[in-house]
Amino acid sequence: MGAFDLPSYLNARRVVVDEALDRLLPPDTATPPSLHRAMRYSVQAGGKRLRPILVIAGAESVGGTAEQVMETACAMEMIHTYSLIHDDLPAMDNDDYRRGMLTNHKVFGEAIAILAGDALLTLAFKLIALNGARAGDATLVSTLVTEVAEAAGTDGMVGGQVVDIESEGKAVSAETLDYIHTHKTAALIRASLCAGAVIAGGTHRQLDAMKKCGEALGLAFQIVDDILDVEGSTEQLGKTAGKDAQQQKATYPAYHGLEVSRAKARALIDEAKAALAPLGERAVPIRALADFIFERRS
Ligand code: IPE
Ligand code: IPE
Ligand code: MG
Ligand code: MG
Ligand code: MG
Repeated sequence: MGAFDLPSYLNARRVVVDEALDRLLPPDTATPPSLHRAMRYSVQAGGKRLRPILVIAGAESVGGTAEQVMETACAMEMIHTYSLIHDDLPAMDNDDYRRGMLTNHKVFGEAIAILAGDALLTLAFKLIALNGARAGDATLVSTLVTEVAEAAGTDGMVGGQVVDIESEGKAVSAETLDYIHTHKTAALIRASLCAGAVIAGGTHRQLDAMKKCGEALGLAFQIVDDILDVEGSTEQLGKTAGKDAQQQKATYPAYHGLEVSRAKARALIDEAKAALAPLGERAVPIRALADFIFERRS
């Protein structure tokens, strides 16, 4: 097998995900148009589409197809985008730029931004339910909904965001920092990888491997996000650089320093790749995605 071409792999999947998102989002002419314009604005502003691509890669690594998991792939991007819209609000990180554009509340106002986030989250669960039902297995819907709800809610992203906000300006422990990162970011990344494999009929052993991989990948992802906030530029990132230090956020570089943070992220990427051993050759794209998460500059 020749060298795996990650850029082509990513581009091809980004195209099908973007097409599906356009199809699954309400048209911006539907009532109320302000809400639907706001939903489309942030989803279609771009982004790496990492979470939907992980859903697809998870499915493909156990013999499934992108088509089989597309609603769930889009649902994970919608949940992620909702989390970004709310993360950027004045009451949270108070950011003006996201994905190279003005943040949602800067364009549509805070009320519509909050409601666009709510609507994206709600639509996501409808799509997951439809995808589970389409797969024709009665237990699948409850497994999927439970897993994604846990990853998005108090035991996942929302819980992590709360502790992130409450830790601003405080000296937190290494354990609290890890709680923040595994919950606010790793949970949705792990759930994305697992959801695709669940729908595509992955075995317990395969799902267990995916879970370990996703957890390590997700923590590495947030450590790199913290590093990029220090080292990256606003143009490169599409969001204001240097915000974490300014807001005295609990981050890896602030706690451990840049060198240790980089080494930890690298070790987690290797751990994520090692966890994929039970999946064999079919997990080559996920291994390449793991390296991409470490090497990315945006
Ligand atoms: C940013 O996520 C927020 C975090 C969880 C760190 P991404 O870096 O995946 O943002 P997009 O989707 O590419 O815009
Ligand atoms: C955000 O973490 C995690 C989310 C759940 C959105 P950050 O606050 O570090 O994300 P960015 O840097 O604004 O993208
Ligand atoms: Mg934040
Ligand atoms: Mg933020
Ligand atoms: Mg950040």
